[in-house]
Amino acid sequence: MNLLDYLPGVPDFPKPGILFRDISPLLANPTAFKEAILQLESLAKQFDYSHILGIESRGFIFGAALAHQAHKGLALARKPNKLPLASHRESYGLEYGSDSLEIQQSTLPQGARVLIVDDVLATGGTIIAACQLLKKAGFQVAGALTFLEIAGLNGGEILNQKGIANKSVLVA
Ligand code: PRP
Ligand code: MG
Repeated sequence: MNLLDYLPGVPDFPKPGILFRDISPLLANPTAFKEAILQLESLAKQFDYSHILGIESRGFIFGAALAHQAHKGLALARKPNKLPLASHRESYGLEYGSDSLEIQQSTLPQGARVLIVDDVLATGGTIIAACQLLKKAGFQVAGALTFLEIAGLNGGEILNQKGIANKSVLVA
């Protein structure tokens, strides 16, 4: 099964020049989605981690499914102003705009070694922000795992240069 067949590229969305990868067909096919999570689980074994951080919003889907499959705790990196308790915030630039992420201080135990999980790695801005957020809150970053790295944007290399170990199931 070629999982890339389930991630059709949509040209010029949300801005001209961006090839948007639609994950909807993958999620709608239970065999493809299961295979995606099994492949993520296989790569996750290369990291020494105690918890997963899923990134709102598409990272929640893969992060939650992987946490369930790998029997790890899940923490959520949320878009701004969604969390009720004391939180840390980090702003970042995206391939097509800017945004912020927050994590709640009390969610993870002291000494947590956190694997950041997202659907797509493009420029790396989101994962770098998630990494800063975890460090700000005093947690260890075990690395970053994504389902698809967008080829040609060098996201994996950019993360390597920042000392963030990273793996992706697919690069395209
Ligand atoms: C997309 C994607 C990744 C991020 C990758 O999220 O889901 O989180 O961009 O880009 P980067 O490597 O350049 O940071 P987006 O912010 O569009 O929002 P969504 O997950 O809420 O759809
Ligand atoms: Mg996202």
